[in-house]
Amino acid sequence: LRKVSLFQHLKDDQLESILRISRRRTFPAGTTLFREKDTGLTFYVILEGSIKLFTKSGNGEEKVLSLVAGGESFGELSLLDGRPRSASAQTLEKTIVLELSTEQFMSLLENHFDITRAILVELCSRLRATNEHVNDLTFLDERTRVVKSLIQLASRSGKRDGNLITVRMTLNYDELAQMAGVAKASLSEVIRELEARGILQFGSNEYTLNLQMLRG
Ligand code: CMP
Repeated sequence: LRKVSLFQHLKDDQLESILRISRRRTFPAGTTLFREKDTGLTFYVILEGSIKLFTKSGNGEEKVLSLVAGGESFGELSLLDGRPRSASAQTLEKTIVLELSTEQFMSLLENHFDITRAILVELCSRLRATNEHVNDLTFLDERTRVVKSLIQLASRSGKRDGNLITVRMTLNYDELAQMAGVAKASLSEVIRELEARGILQFGSNEYTLNLQMLRG
């Protein structure tokens, strides 16, 4: 629990009480934890694994809003404002979470100002990330958006070895295209170009970015 940013300032006995009151659950890859517009009843803290938060348009097209991984949390919005879930949540791999009910979540906020502050800071950081994404969609070309998304994934979960960063792919092509805000055909075109220039190499479930070639 120490690795969970919300809980990093709590004392051992406080962490133990969270472990006691919360429910630990393990989900396989591809499990939907809740859907957009559902009633929000649970706050989630990820211990291991990763989750995709996404919305769907009227004609069923998805938009990935964010990826959250071990040590991060989600599902607070609907508990705080009492409105339906603002997005759907699906596991990208085997994922272990702690679940807290609305009452347990509210009592944590009431009793631990550190946690309340950490939630507010997290909300600020999401608003900033969303602003940045809106700017990117408005001002950056498609190629730059794809490269930026590949770099963002690499900085979250890549393994660096000299100039090479290898990133295990938990997203499929469609999801990567949604994240970058480009059509799938544009994504394939940019990937082909980056591969031809030695910047990127795609394997079956990972890709490698060459920082030296990228800088060039
Ligand atoms: P809630 O609305 O309860 O359920 C969906 C969750 O997705 C939401 O709480 C937030 O935790 C998270 N979420 C919604 N929008 C964003 C966003 N733009 N960036 C990151 N996380 C988000």
